[in-house]
Amino acid sequence: MKRAEVIALDKAHVWHPYTAMDGYRAEDPIVVARASGCRFEDVDGTSYLDGNSSWWLMTLGHGHPRLKEVLRDQAETLLHVSLAGIAHEPSAALAGELLATFPGMSHVFYTDNGSGSVEVAVKMAAQYWHQNGHPEKTRFLALDGAFHGDTLGAASLGGVDVFRRPFANLLFDCVHAPIENDGYAKAFDFFRETLARDHAKIAAVVVEPLLQGAAGMRVYGADLLRELRALCTRYDVLLVCDEVFTGYGRTGPFWASLGAGVTPDLVCVGKAFTQLLPMGATLVAPHVEAGFRGGKDRAFYYGHTFCGHPLGAALAREVLRIYRDEKVLEHATRQGASLDAAFTRLADHPRVLRTRRIGMAAAADLAPSSGANGGYLGGVGWRVYQEARKRGAYIRPLGDTVYLTPPLVIGDRDLADLLAIFEESVRVVLED
Ligand SMILES: Cc1ncc(COP(=O)(O)O)c(C=O)c1O
Repeated sequence: MKRAEVIALDKAHVWHPYTAMDGYRAEDPIVVARASGCRFEDVDGTSYLDGNSSWWLMTLGHGHPRLKEVLRDQAETLLHVSLAGIAHEPSAALAGELLATFPGMSHVFYTDNGSGSVEVAVKMAAQYWHQNGHPEKTRFLALDGAFHGDTLGAASLGGVDVFRRPFANLLFDCVHAPIENDGYAKAFDFFRETLARDHAKIAAVVVEPLLQGAAGMRVYGADLLRELRALCTRYDVLLVCDEVFTGYGRTGPFWASLGAGVTPDLVCVGKAFTQLLPMGATLVAPHVEAGFRGGKDRAFYYGHTFCGHPLGAALAREVLRIYRDEKVLEHATRQGASLDAAFTRLADHPRVLRTRRIGMAAAADLAPSSGANGGYLGGVGWRVYQEARKRGAYIRPLGDTVYLTPPLVIGDRDLADLLAIFEESVRVVLED
């Protein structure tokens, strides 16, 4: 099929995620033919560095040969079977291997994606209290700017206003702690006060540990997360850490919460988990799982059709082995220093309001010429996107915040090129 034909069909029939479609139809989209390593290639031959890890998940880059091989091997023996009353080696072995990365967790509940892993955590928390003597504990706390997925339960926890607004009347009761431009102190004061006052009605606090992705790659301190853990323990409230984005080394350690010295009660896993196929998991601490023991009326009635599918589980096992064999975290730590240097240089620009970096995620808030940052609906970041595209990099912005979340395995040459393109694109737009 010719490039123009793909575009014509796409524009006629495909409704793209997180996309204002009128604007999209007026553009010439990238039409990807193939991808390998840290690049993907348009059918017209243009190559793009993937500065976004394809929505934050391909920490190992595109087309890892070992993942292709394991996919082929697994396809030869078992493609799919339901997990309802059936066990199979890929999901059983994966559970053991995954739990070995997170001391303190004892069970794995499989789902189809990151949002599903959050839905599970929410429902598990609610049912846990419901059948263990505290049915009044139904409320949730989360951070302003939080993003935990797009299904209604996950969206109830979400704190990005523009995503919530149309569904405000449908979302369940979640109180959001306010964050300010320069820090999280106020939010954690709010958690302290709210937990002290209302803990009898609160089921769980749900957070993205240390790094809030969709909020604009905002970073908070490990000390705050540790304090939140202590508060949740003190007031008998479950702590859910959504590691869908932060897990698998994005912030430095394999798990952001564990790296901060925090063991949550429930952990949400997705994205880099399989690298390729939709699959999520919720890790469960032993005392939470124990709250579901007993008769049929105490079971957790939840299960997606494809949960724990053998292909995804086989991939996820190989992902863990690749992390170990290729020393992915050590490599990412070295590359993070280059990311840091580039964003520190940008911070001197008068129209860069602030920058931040943790692990292999870095962001800069830009000021449009009018002076005010337009947030998620702002247009400056999209101008940077266009400039970067002209120069051979894909760096999807969050409105007026531009960021990089490259594959953790990115090599020196690709990273240097990506940073050069990024810096030049930001400067060209801001000096316009
Ligand atoms: C922290 C976090 N939780 C949950 C999700 C939802 O994951 P999925 O898109 O796989 O449903 C995302 C997606 O970006 C995320 O960043």
